[in-house]
Amino acid sequence: MTVPIPEQLTPLQSILPSEPLLLMGSGPVPIPQAVARANGEVINHLGPTMDKIIHNVKRMARYCFQTRAEKVFGVAGPSSAAMEMAVSNLLWPGRKALIFKVGTFSGRFADMAAGVGGEVDVFEPPGTAKPITIEMAREALARDRYDVVTMVQGETSCGIKNVHLPEIVKMAKAQGALVVVDAVCTLTTMPMYMDDWQIDALVTGGQKGLSSIPGVSLIAFSDEAWNTLKQRPGDHPHWCFDARRAWRFWGFQQYHYTAPVPGILAIHEALRLICEETLEKRFDRHQLSSTALQAGIEAMGLELYVPKEYRLNSVVAIKIPEGIDGLALRQYMADTFHVEIAGAFGLPILRIGQMGEQCRSQNLFKVLYALGMSFKHEGLNLKISEGMAAMEENLVRDADHFVD
Ligand SMILES: Cc1ncc(COP(=O)(O)O)c(C=O)c1O
Repeated sequence: MTVPIPEQLTPLQSILPSEPLLLMGSGPVPIPQAVARANGEVINHLGPTMDKIIHNVKRMARYCFQTRAEKVFGVAGPSSAAMEMAVSNLLWPGRKALIFKVGTFSGRFADMAAGVGGEVDVFEPPGTAKPITIEMAREALARDRYDVVTMVQGETSCGIKNVHLPEIVKMAKAQGALVVVDAVCTLTTMPMYMDDWQIDALVTGGQKGLSSIPGVSLIAFSDEAWNTLKQRPGDHPHWCFDARRAWRFWGFQQYHYTAPVPGILAIHEALRLICEETLEKRFDRHQLSSTALQAGIEAMGLELYVPKEYRLNSVVAIKIPEGIDGLALRQYMADTFHVEIAGAFGLPILRIGQMGEQCRSQNLFKVLYALGMSFKHEGLNLKISEGMAAMEENLVRDADHFVD
């Protein structure tokens, strides 16, 4: 052997923290037991049991996407892979894309579009953390004739919501574009109606609102999008992301590549739990949970980063007060309270996730208390009791909606 066995190998259990961290950041989020158990199984990816599972995953995903589209797929990869599958199948040299960028994730579509030879225009609102308004969209759409327009429903990186998404999709459609929407952090946390809003490709990840594992994502294409991608001249440059090839597995249970079986089983369970809860109740639970958390944060004396009119509920951004080291605070919080929250991509904010299993009352109390105490440790005395009381008041006022 020319390469020796690595030294000092330790079993995983001695690498992981002795008490698991409560994941209250921007994802991944905690997963239910049923999802964790499913993720521990491996079965034949082409057998009859898998056929049934794929059939169910597509039916349940259609409910979550609110679409009757036939072409629904799981994607072996992160949410970015589903984004790439959407964009790369609808673009090729000679086709133009308009990217509505409001932060890191929605901006990522531009690189993906350019990567398959699309001509790319990026529109970004002036300033930071601003949504696309209808006027901005009208102006941007008037600059050229676009084949594809991309947009995010909720921009996790800075905590804003594109509140005019339905109207903007409609405007883009009226001009003949196909519209790709990233609902990675928002799906099942707030209303999304793929068919009613005329969205052509909708993507989400496993590790956020669905409360499944990272690494298996979902995508749906409208019939119009599918008819367009079928007309692609030549082969798709990325073999794995070719939707026509992927449909062999997702449509006909034939081999494309070995499917990520445990992740698909996990997403099956995550979707089943969502169907059991119903979207209506889930939206209510997310709204109530996030509103209560926001009230608690403000009552404690902290400021939220985004104005209420376009604040994202799924990921709440908090301004870091002058003189506080956000990284040190988060580290203290993790070490002392076993609660993890997120920083941001260069912005002076902390982010607390409100997606799926994060929206449970025990998690809210734990994260808010840990936040207040960690600020105290960093030298800022907040009104912790007032914050906790404000959150509790909000939760009990509407407790019927809070299924724990
Ligand atoms: C809105 C949004 N889009 C895309 C992504 C990319 O997801 P992934 O890291 O799973 O590729 C994220 C991840 O946080 C996100 O929040």
